[in-house]
Amino acid sequence: MSTNSIDSLLHETRRFAPDPEFAANAIATADLYERAAVDPDAFWAEQARELLHWHRPFDEVLDWSNPPFAKWFADGRINVAYNCLDRHVLAGNGDRVAFHWEGEPGDSRTITYAELTAEVKKAANLLTSLGIRQGDRVAIYLPMIPEAVIAMLAIARIGAVHSVVFGGFSAESLRARIDDAAAKLVITADGGWRKGKVFPLKNAVDAALAADPSTGSGTESTVKNVLVVRRGENTVDWVEGRDLWWHDEIALMDPEHDAQPFEAENPLFILYTSGTTGKPKGILHTSGGYLTHTAFTHKNVFDLHPETDVYWCTADVGWITGHSYVVYGPLANGATQVLYEGTPDTPHPGRWWELIQKYGVTIFYTAPTAIRSFMKSGRQIPQQFDLSSLRLLGSVGEPINPEAWIWYREIIGGGTTPVVDTWWQTETGGIMISALPGVTEAKPGSAQVPLPGISVDVVNDDGSPVGHGNGGLLVVTKPWPGMLRGIWGDPERFKETYWEKFGDKYFAGDGARFDDDGDIWLLGRVDDVLNVSGHRLSTAEIESALVSHPWVAEAAVVGASDETTGQAVVAFVIVKASQADVATADEASAQLRAHVSEQIGAIARPRQIFIVSELPKTRSGKIMRRLLRDVAEGREIGDTTTLADTSVMQIISDKLK
Ligand code: PRX
Repeated sequence: MSTNSIDSLLHETRRFAPDPEFAANAIATADLYERAAVDPDAFWAEQARELLHWHRPFDEVLDWSNPPFAKWFADGRINVAYNCLDRHVLAGNGDRVAFHWEGEPGDSRTITYAELTAEVKKAANLLTSLGIRQGDRVAIYLPMIPEAVIAMLAIARIGAVHSVVFGGFSAESLRARIDDAAAKLVITADGGWRKGKVFPLKNAVDAALAADPSTGSGTESTVKNVLVVRRGENTVDWVEGRDLWWHDEIALMDPEHDAQPFEAENPLFILYTSGTTGKPKGILHTSGGYLTHTAFTHKNVFDLHPETDVYWCTADVGWITGHSYVVYGPLANGATQVLYEGTPDTPHPGRWWELIQKYGVTIFYTAPTAIRSFMKSGRQIPQQFDLSSLRLLGSVGEPINPEAWIWYREIIGGGTTPVVDTWWQTETGGIMISALPGVTEAKPGSAQVPLPGISVDVVNDDGSPVGHGNGGLLVVTKPWPGMLRGIWGDPERFKETYWEKFGDKYFAGDGARFDDDGDIWLLGRVDDVLNVSGHRLSTAEIESALVSHPWVAEAAVVGASDETTGQAVVAFVIVKASQADVATADEASAQLRAHVSEQIGAIARPRQIFIVSELPKTRSGKIMRRLLRDVAEGREIGDTTTLADTSVMQIISDKLK
């Protein structure tokens, strides 16, 4: 297809009907919607029984007697790791590949289900030998190596709780998460490969755990041991008595380990995500409901045929997508996956496509930001590779613009693959809104319809439904199995953030619109949460990082639209008078960008920092970010009449000219 015809599709409202051949073999069928509509609880109970092994079957399905704290399958007992490992081996599928792992420098490892099970058993024994028990929290700070998955499953296997911290986060961010969850153990690596170099991780753990106010909290941490996987071969410091090499310890372990059943509501993991305040929220997920939701959605949305498919989700295990659609959903379903350590463009810009060709990937799940950056580099790169094995493509993390959707289908999917745009959140645990391949007629740019068993609506500020053809706020109207069970240690914040606004409906924080057909279009966050390359950041978190720098008197952060990353961080900073003479605006902004990177991590580094003398505020002192966004996006400045001082925006825009 020529560029012109692709461009013309930008403005089209065409639908892509399911290919009849695909539909004939599709896992999902249209009757799922009807069955789920009749009795959603019974529908989920059926999925839980069909997709998972219960050590003790449940009778109770949903307990919503104490909203918003849901319990699913509460009298059932289950072991999540057993479901992802042992039962596949016992069913005779031990030789099936679980992971084709590829390191960035080109080393690789193939791990079968039998091998993965054996590794996890040893790791579970190791955790137990280190004193980790049911309910204890373990932090994971690892690159995308098999040990990341092994560690998560070993923690789940013994009923403990993991808190995976993305390897790109700083020592400060890591420490804050360790402290909040009072983790006893950290599992890390010496370093990992990224962009052709080893990036150190162990030294960030050392800095995080030091009782030093500039890095740690100034007090001793709760961590007793640090387990270190050897990957980068970089030199590391060693704290005797605390630090242990993973490979030394694993070698000593008994290869046998019996998976004990735990209650369905046993906590499985905490994953921190940004909210509207500076302090990240520890989103809590539990076992039986979460695994039911991820297994069901993974199977049906990705049309998984585990005997023949090779599935690749490019997300890092440090994010919810990595938890639900690299680890739990796919492994519960016995999928064969690709796991890749590095960046898409190392050592060459076609690395991802080369991996698809090498492993014959059939199902591919990635983020719009990646697709847009590939579009920019041009189709000639993917076209050098044989991508004909692909039969289904997925997208997640932010709205996918129709232009990128079409490019994805045409250039990566050969013009034939279904594309599923999946809307969900760290809090929802699994996919909530998506087309079902083989069933739904696809509409580029729209996430489309709630999955069977999921009830969503778009409402006005007062909670009344907007109806077709209108926009408003996205809500979930009924509890669902994968829903968060709370915010770690802060039940009040859980209620306030998601439930206070509408009482009985979950407020997602996203704007959305129903089109005339009733399909849902996501419109981005309505709160002070930014979405940069599909990663969530809060304006308050970046502002507090900025004001922690001695030069900064005040800071305001906004998300400005960006062609590749969706949104970009743009900061407006007032520098203290005493510093104004010492540094030029360029120097100050370079220093402050580096400071944010150190404080939070490189993903939060502002694209631009404007040094200004005033910030626009209302009479009650609230910063009017809407006006700053106008400046950051180069638009005409909107209505300024509610400002305390209406001349401020003039001063700011004059200064930036
Ligand atoms: O704004 C929505 C956006 O990402 C937010 C959730 O971010 P996070 O918890 O980090 O989880 C990302 C991966 C599931 C949502 O509130 N978002 C996610 N998927 C989509 C999306 N926006 C539009 N379309 C999507 N498919």
